[in-house]
Amino acid sequence: MPKRILVTGGAGFIGSHLVGRLLELGHQVAVVDDLSTGKREYVDPRAAFYHLDITQAAALGEVVARVRPEVVEHHAAQTSVVRSVADPGEDARTNILGSLSVLEACRRHGVEHVIFASTGGALYGNPERVPCGEEHPVRPLSPYGAAKAAVETYLAMYQQVYGLSWTALRYANVYGPRQDPFGEAGVVSIFTQKMLTEQAPTIFGTGEQQRDFVYVGDVVEANVLALERGVGGVYNIGTGVATSVNRIAGLLRQTTEYRGEIAYGPARPGEVDCIALESCRARDTLGWAPAVTLEEGLARTVAFFRQRGLPGAKTKSL
Ligand SMILES: NC(=O)c1ccc[n+]([C@@H]2O[C@H](COP(=O)([O-])OP(=O)(O)OC[C@H]3O[C@@H](n4cnc5c(N)ncnc54)[C@H](O)[C@@H]3O)[C@@H](O)[C@H]2O)c1
Repeated sequence: MPKRILVTGGAGFIGSHLVGRLLELGHQVAVVDDLSTGKREYVDPRAAFYHLDITQAAALGEVVARVRPEVVEHHAAQTSVVRSVADPGEDARTNILGSLSVLEACRRHGVEHVIFASTGGALYGNPERVPCGEEHPVRPLSPYGAAKAAVETYLAMYQQVYGLSWTALRYANVYGPRQDPFGEAGVVSIFTQKMLTEQAPTIFGTGEQQRDFVYVGDVVEANVLALERGVGGVYNIGTGVATSVNRIAGLLRQTTEYRGEIAYGPARPGEVDCIALESCRARDTLGWAPAVTLEEGLARTVAFFRQRGLPGAKTKSL
């Protein structure tokens, strides 16, 4: 059944892929985005676009009243862990107060279900076991992770008190085409951009820190399944495999044919040493499993950046 869906952050990396897929499936889609990191050209022209900051509660309420979404996909966020550590208040402004303004608009205008882009990578701290399941204690090491935990708590409260149903998808490290290569997050896109332009990428720390890298298309499918199966709850969305940053750099070196140096810098605060997410709950309840291998996902990402053309990039392999 086609639905009316509002995607906050729909001009961003994950949100824009989601918008495209939802339209492909026949849904009616509207986007709210302030374009702080997102790009207007990533938004499929078939989606209605509202250039708006989610913290503007009254204006957001008007948009939700006009669009009358049955489901809100809440992806808008300040996404830099480093920035959140430097300025927790600014992070909370968007990630807590902005989210609250989204929830209020949902409550006031009859939204049935909210799907929230949460985090697994920044929620569990340094986990006691890897891969780490949803029942693991929530012990964020950054204001960014603390804000995601706070919004999950608000969502549970909104269900109890106001009857708003919800799903939180706790993503691992998402990577793929359109991820901003000039931001502070997204090691794959940053390294790809550097290597394609013959600049030495910098690994912060030893490079032996391990992450769970999940391809953006797989994350989009998790959202689609959450929407279609609609049972609510909290789900890890990851591959269960921990991959070191050094290995990512090595694989990207091969794919981009980069022969230069790799630099090392000091470890960054707020980052965990090793994490991977166990996603059995998503498999059993949503029928979700990652389908794109790391090698394939990296190849698609490099192909995207090559095709798009970066200033000074090598294009000979096209
Ligand atoms: N990329 C990952 O590895 C990852 C991992 C876990 C969770 N997440 C979550 O997934 C969501 C999408 O992340 P992404 O990687 O696509 O990042 P992104 O920066 O590309 O997308 C965020 C989008 O939100 C918009 N935005 C930011 N502040 C806003 C505001 N105040 N009002 C309206 N729009 C605003 C940005 O312009 C951007 O389009 C975020 O909630 C993020 O926390 C991402």
